Amino acid sequence: MGKPVEVAAVTIPTPYGEFLTRAFEVSSGPVYLALVRGNLNGDEPVLARLHSECLTGDALGSLRCDCGIQLRLSLRVIAAEGRGVLVYATGQEGRGIGLVNKLRAYVEQDLGADTVDANLRLGLPVEDRHFDDAAQVLQALGVRSVRLLTNNPAKVAGVRGAGVEIHSVEPVRTAAHARNIAYLRTKGRRMGHLQPSGENLATTLTPHADVTALLGHVSPRVDRPYVVVKYAQTLDGRIATRDGDSKWISGEAERGISHALRAACDAVLVGVGTVTRDDPQLTVRMVPGASPLRVVLDSTLRTPLSARVLDGAAATMVITSAKSPEADRSRLRDAGVAVRVVPSSSSGVSVSAALAVLRASGVRSVLVEGGAAVITSLLGEGLVDRLIVGTAPKIIGRGTDAVGDLGVIAVADGICLTNRSVHVTADDVITAWDVDDRAFQAAVASGDMLAAGEDR
Ligand SMILES: NC(=O)c1ccc[n+]([C@@H]2O[C@H](COP(=O)([O-])OP(=O)(O)OC[C@H]3O[C@@H](n4cnc5c(N)ncnc54)[C@H](OP(=O)(O)O)[C@@H]3O)[C@@H](O)[C@H]2O)c1
Repeated sequence: MGKPVEVAAVTIPTPYGEFLTRAFEVSSGPVYLALVRGNLNGDEPVLARLHSECLTGDALGSLRCDCGIQLRLSLRVIAAEGRGVLVYATGQEGRGIGLVNKLRAYVEQDLGADTVDANLRLGLPVEDRHFDDAAQVLQALGVRSVRLLTNNPAKVAGVRGAGVEIHSVEPVRTAAHARNIAYLRTKGRRMGHLQPSGENLATTLTPHADVTALLGHVSPRVDRPYVVVKYAQTLDGRIATRDGDSKWISGEAERGISHALRAACDAVLVGVGTVTRDDPQLTVRMVPGASPLRVVLDSTLRTPLSARVLDGAAATMVITSAKSPEADRSRLRDAGVAVRVVPSSSSGVSVSAALAVLRASGVRSVLVEGGAAVITSLLGEGLVDRLIVGTAPKIIGRGTDAVGDLGVIAVADGICLTNRSVHVTADDVITAWDVDDRAFQAAVASGDMLAAGEDR
């Protein structure tokens, strides 16, 4: 078997940032694309995914499998880490049986066979892929040791057998949905794949909601992603009771919209206050879709290792400050969490620096689902592009305000909201606006504002 021959190298911009894409031809025929982020040389094991082409899942977004979701999640994880490679193997449709045979196997599945028996009924192998070529491509890239992103034990054995050291195996846990859960369970039961993170799977999916109008025009800046703040409030403007309880202010359909918004964004961000109070998982479960990168602002690393936001269901980045102990950072990194250190601010970490880190990691859009502290910091610094508010038909009186003190004295200096979009669910009304804070920022610049908490 000859060595892979590199035939082209070009930068490809993706929703997860730019990847240097190097194309290799191998003697057995197919072309391999290596989507590279960062420097792959050196002794540190490289985060790597070997992804087999699945036209229906990858390109058409088919919900029969989780290939497209795994592809996008892997690119996100590699982008968040800042170093890694996704080797895309063309010509390996349907675990190697080819596109047309895969479609024929789908027909068998519609007649009652599972994904294994469907191939067997057609006289086709259940697994017809070999990982030697992919391993050789890794070697051609200078990769000696990998942290392999996969749920498939056969891939681990194949890559190891082809001479690449497997430092560790990192699961690509996608949130299962109603259309692929049977397929994923079969792969788990009959092929030893890891199970999807399906413990919170909704048995019925929220009817498909198009959130593009709510999301507005996604337009990232050079130095930060497009920032969308989303919260659920009572009719009297509270996001939690006086004791901090917020489960659930809004109805199920409104929460389904939140999941659709998560699936539409590259990252979802909260402050550590929301993590310690609510322990949210921040994944996509109520609609089909990939969970975004989860981001926690936590200046001193109060996030407990047991927090659900750190589970393996999606990638997580914790953004901290120099105030956090190095030992705590190491513990998080050992748990597979990306840790970034940015300058601190009077409220915690510098939100502008945190957003710059996300942008540099390839994040184009971020959905902020944090509490009042984070919302107030972002609005106060003019870092919000879109505001989405689910208003529930409830009144709770004293409680947590959605937005804290912005120092506004004159109404004319307040933040204006334009370009309204409205979505009505069975219980709640969701309204979205572009944020126009020019008058507010001008008042801040001219000193016409009170300092937070100061009385006139
Ligand atoms: N209804 C809803 O939609 C909704 C959504 C989310 C939360 N909530 C409710 O809100 C409450 C939690 O509120 P919260 O204000 O504590 O949550 P938060 O805004 O998510 O978290 C605040 C914490 O984040 C950290 N942080 C780091 N950098 C920050 C910065 N630049 N600005 C602000 N905070 C920064 C701070 O802790 P360090 O100083 O330790 O870093 C701060 O105490 C809970 O009761 C929860 O139920 C409601």
